Amino acid sequence: MQRGNMMKIIPGPASKELGEKIADLSGSEKVTVIYKVFPDGENYVRLEGDVQNEHVAIVQTTSAPQDTNLMQLAFVAAAAKRNAARKVTAIVPYFAYARQDKAFLKGENANVETVAAMLHTAGIDELITVNVHSEKALAKFPFPAFNLTAIPLLAEHFVQRGFKGAFALAPDKGAMYIAEQAQMVLGGGSGHLEKERDPYTGQTSQTGKNLEVKGQIVIIFDDIISTGGTIVGAARILHERGAKQVFAACVHPLLIGDAEKRILEAGVKEIVGTDSVPKRASKVSLASLISNELKAKQSG
Ligand code: R5P
Repeated sequence: MQRGNMMKIIPGPASKELGEKIADLSGSEKVTVIYKVFPDGENYVRLEGDVQNEHVAIVQTTSAPQDTNLMQLAFVAAAAKRNAARKVTAIVPYFAYARQDKAFLKGENANVETVAAMLHTAGIDELITVNVHSEKALAKFPFPAFNLTAIPLLAEHFVQRGFKGAFALAPDKGAMYIAEQAQMVLGGGSGHLEKERDPYTGQTSQTGKNLEVKGQIVIIFDDIISTGGTIVGAARILHERGAKQVFAACVHPLLIGDAEKRILEAGVKEIVGTDSVPKRASKVSLASLISNELKAKQSG
């Protein structure tokens, strides 16, 4: 039976805790996913709950192991459709392959488009993601895709801890809009570094022309921290320029390998991320941001 605009939430295996928080905050019923990985590595999922004629929202991030998490998302979506769900929304806080949004070199593929096509085939009708690396890529998806920003939430976390007035720094010009969103909440200054990346080696170099941060508390805001190289380089420049304290904030704390250690060793006081990627640094939850979006969609 259809229950007006109410949605059922399916917390996926990769975002179980976040999915449950979203269901609680949005007052939605939960559908549990039974899942396992067979000894040969294949994934199995089963929905434990009725989805017939329901609009369901699957919460499943796709950080590492990306391909497993993507397959589980596809299988849960397909299981929902096979069991007669009327609409499937995917809530994918971290969207894997989003940085591979175009063929940079001859012979490459725009892998993010292939992932979207695969999810569409599986049964996904709509997508909500958070601070996706390339918003332009979403326009090419075969279903409506919405991008939320968690930067104000991250900045608010720092305000609550007494850092009102801190300087918001973007590690490159392209991320300046992120620093500006943070500045709106923090009320201090903002600026950016210059970053260049070699398309073959992936090596980056950073410079900080005209950056005035002497004596200031600086929070570096980025969408992703992966290897930590960008933050380590930025912290070095900030310390050279006389910053009093340096923090790092990001939406997606991938923090590969020893990234966390390297960042802290570079003099960054603390790393604050969101539960888009469940890690020790995930101190800010996306649950309120996403449940508010769902409530707005349900009433709209
Ligand atoms: C790149 O353009 C992104 O916004 C991040 O700055 C980048 O992905 C961070 O990567 P890493 O931590 O490996 O330097």
